[in-house]
Amino acid sequence: MAVLVTGVGYIGAQLVKDLLADGEEVVAVDNLFSTDASAIALLQKDHNSRFHFVKGNAGRPAVLRQAFETCPQIDLVFGLAAQSSAHPDAASPRYTENTNLLAPRLLLEAMVSYGVRTLVYASSFRVYGDELPPVVAEDLTYGRFGDLSHLSKCYVEKLMEMYAWRHGLRCLTVRLGVTYGLGPVMKKDYSFMTAPNKFCLQATRGEKIAVYGSGPNPTAFIHVADAAGAMRAAASYETLGGYVAVNAVSEMVPVSSVAAIVADEGRRRSLDVAIVIEGSQNEAKAAPRVLSRLDEVGFRPGRRLRDGVAEMIDYFLSAP
Ligand SMILES: NC(=O)c1ccc[n+]([C@@H]2O[C@H](COP(=O)([O-])OP(=O)(O)OC[C@H]3O[C@@H](n4cnc5c(N)ncnc54)[C@H](O)[C@@H]3O)[C@@H](O)[C@H]2O)c1
Repeated sequence: MAVLVTGVGYIGAQLVKDLLADGEEVVAVDNLFSTDASAIALLQKDHNSRFHFVKGNAGRPAVLRQAFETCPQIDLVFGLAAQSSAHPDAASPRYTENTNLLAPRLLLEAMVSYGVRTLVYASSFRVYGDELPPVVAEDLTYGRFGDLSHLSKCYVEKLMEMYAWRHGLRCLTVRLGVTYGLGPVMKKDYSFMTAPNKFCLQATRGEKIAVYGSGPNPTAFIHVADAAGAMRAAASYETLGGYVAVNAVSEMVPVSSVAAIVADEGRRRSLDVAIVIEGSQNEAKAAPRVLSRLDEVGFRPGRRLRDGVAEMIDYFLSAP
């Protein structure tokens, strides 16, 4: 049996690496929009016979056909190809819509035609919006969205629900927290970096770390290795059938506290890290308790922010 992964970016490359390390055969599709070709080349070099890379746009049926026909034994798909950035300069709205709305529909159609039953999709904890109740379980309704990339998660989740209902697919959506930590693809373009990763790079460059108005609000985080683990745990959860959403979050921490952790770990390495607070700060809210259906399969993301920050600062200090 083989696995198809769309999107070999920050999280997808970690997932591909873990799957290959466990002896899986992997077909991957990516158009190199926001990833590191040399990291993909390294995965190919290390696992030449079991890693098949299709370079192309996941929003084109011919590319998806090529991927499914590369390996007839594909029985599981991980969907991570996306214009993932909320930054307005990251991509045009049309590019975001083609990649985040059209491509997932084409992927689901291709799964139906090739008889592949299970899709595990990388969604976001941000689907709940920024006003969170004291307990967040997966049946909470969608909240307010601030950008097209996150808004598209809501469409794809409903699309998955429709394909599960209409075509009997098994569609599992994993609502990941903001992902941080050291993985095979490490970005240096701030538009495509999450706050902890960007703060760590800024600390090593001697730049000020800016925390904006929402800084005191608790934000959901997960380490990149745990994000990949959560995707695999969802896939292995055989009793999850039809359409199911699962939360994947390890900590709820204010962004201002992430900046403080980065400054602290920076100081331990003799870096002088300055934090600037931009705009008026909200009053800090209590962190909600996040429930996850992945508890039922014994999956708990265990890595902590401070360890992820430390490994990233060391990486950026030693990287060319
Ligand atoms: N990083 C996070 O904090 C986070 C949190 C929650 C959810 N997610 C979601 O997880 C998924 C992966 O996120 P990531 O952080 O690895 O992002 P990423 O940008 O590193 O990965 C996305 C990958 O998709 C590829 N891609 C973009 N357009 C494409 C296209 N048209 N055809 C083929 N490939 C294309 C990019 O080149 C990239 O490799 C995204 O859907 C993202 O929204 C990420």
